[in-house]
Amino acid sequence: MNTGDKVDFPIIHDPRGNLTFIEGEKHIPFNISRVYYLYDVPGGAERGGHAHYDLEQVIIAMSGSFDLILDNGFKKTRIHLNRSYYGIYVGSMIWREMDNFSSGACCMVLASKRYDEKDYIREYEDFIKQFR
Ligand code: TYD
Repeated sequence: MNTGDKVDFPIIHDPRGNLTFIEGEKHIPFNISRVYYLYDVPGGAERGGHAHYDLEQVIIAMSGSFDLILDNGFKKTRIHLNRSYYGIYVGSMIWREMDNFSSGACCMVLASKRYDEKDYIREYEDFIKQFR
């Protein structure tokens, strides 16, 4: 699986409401060690703005919508997310930003590792140095 790939999750359609599930190492290519989510994001706010040496993630718009900007050091791609039945895979060494959050948006992130500040690259200059 490559960064930016859309991952479609199973949907159990039901007149009582639809159901989606995600199993680690089955629907996404890693075991889920951590789940975190962004919500109550004020209009105009930006999140992300970092890369990870090692972490893999799948990013899902659980409600509302937002844009995910992925930068592999050479090319930037903007992806609009607005459904809870698919996610976007983000591998290691990718600079990511999120903006354009709608009101009520909830961004859920499935992560391959537990939180580790040492895995972050927080300065864009340090990120881009890895490719030049
Ligand atoms: P950060 O990853 O910088 O947020 P963003 O979503 O904008 O990229 O995290 C913000 C703060 O939250 C930072 O102080 C670290 C803390 N944090 C944790 O303690 N555990 C986590 O799993 C995450 C994602 C963040």
